[in-house]
Amino acid sequence: MLELHDVRKRFNLAAGFFARAGAYVYAVNGVSLAIKPGETYGLVGESGCGKTTTARLIVGMYTPDGGTIRFRSRDGDDYPLHAPSGQQRALLRSKIKYIFQDPAKSLNPRMNVLQILTAGYRYSPLWPGRRRAREEAAAILNDVGLNAADLERRPADFSGGQRQRIAIARALMLKPELLICDEVVSALDVSIQGQILGLLLRLREEHGFSMLFIAHDLAVVSFISDRIGVMYRGMLVEEAPAQRLIAEPLHPYTRHLYSSIPKLGRRQAPGTRTERFGEVPDPTSPPEPEELRDARVTALLCRDRPGLLSVGEEHFVSPAFAGAPDLDELLERRIS
Ligand SMILES: Nc1ncnc2c1ncn2[C@@H]1O[C@H](COP(=O)(O)OP(=O)(O)OP(=O)(O)O)[C@@H](O)[C@H]1O
Ligand SMILES: [Mg+2]
Repeated sequence: MLELHDVRKRFNLAAGFFARAGAYVYAVNGVSLAIKPGETYGLVGESGCGKTTTARLIVGMYTPDGGTIRFRSRDGDDYPLHAPSGQQRALLRSKIKYIFQDPAKSLNPRMNVLQILTAGYRYSPLWPGRRRAREEAAAILNDVGLNAADLERRPADFSGGQRQRIAIARALMLKPELLICDEVVSALDVSIQGQILGLLLRLREEHGFSMLFIAHDLAVVSFISDRIGVMYRGMLVEEAPAQRLIAEPLHPYTRHLYSSIPKLGRRQAPGTRTERFGEVPDPTSPPEPEELRDARVTALLCRDRPGLLSVGEEHFVSPAFAGAPDLDELLERRIS
């Protein structure tokens, strides 16, 4: 239903520390991935690797510098998300919904919950009139674990977890086909995180949307996702079904992410999480992996997944970056 092919986005650094002619941040540097109907795809990687930029490219907040993004809706229409027409944009507003990290900032403090839930709805062609919209808002609020009496309250009256429930309810009002959740639980306590993740899993069953679930925490992403893509410096370095990625992570960066998951029941010493993978990259120089120039690898790269080797059913890994898995081992594993 959603397909990204070799998508690229770089930002020009006009000011600041890196200000110099032709300095760019290669935020998204050739990402290809596909999300199937009803599937939850987890996108994981450390801060600054390009997750949010990927999400913003999908919802049209940025225009890609290269590549294509295609969305096929349930009724069979195709939308080029990299360059939608004005009319398509209007239709897409209800089909794809984006939930941000910070529930406090994304809800207007002057509106009550009813206004928040119906603000986008009111101007959509689906608007059923005030009375019916109120009933629908109450029903959705119930769905996310709040109740109709909350319609009259304002965001300040709620806890962080409850506000995130309101943001989820707002996204569901227009019955989206694809929900993009960008670090939706990162700001919440661990126990509340579990509640929200459980809620999203249940809602996905009931409403049948697909999900792009973005987080820097591999434990969270593994819990909720069917398939996972691991992102590093603007590129996917590994992708596999969640179970498989947990059982058999191949790329050293994926292994690094797993090793930094704190063991259950053991308190983490401050600072242990900041241990880095490889060198601190200069964000203004696009990675030019030596290994990619190896002729053997170039011949084996998947045509529909530029930059990735197929190493098993639905399992892809990048031969790029220092300490990448041994080439001979990868070539042996590869299913042609
Ligand atoms: N509008 C922008 N202008 C300039 N640079 C940007 C812009 N948006 C993102 N970047 C840069 O692009 C890179 C990727 O940023 P992005 O926000 O996509 O990362 P992220 O993976 O979502 O990180 P986080 O986990 O911190 O949210 C970063 O180096 C960031 O500084
Ligand atoms: Mg982000």
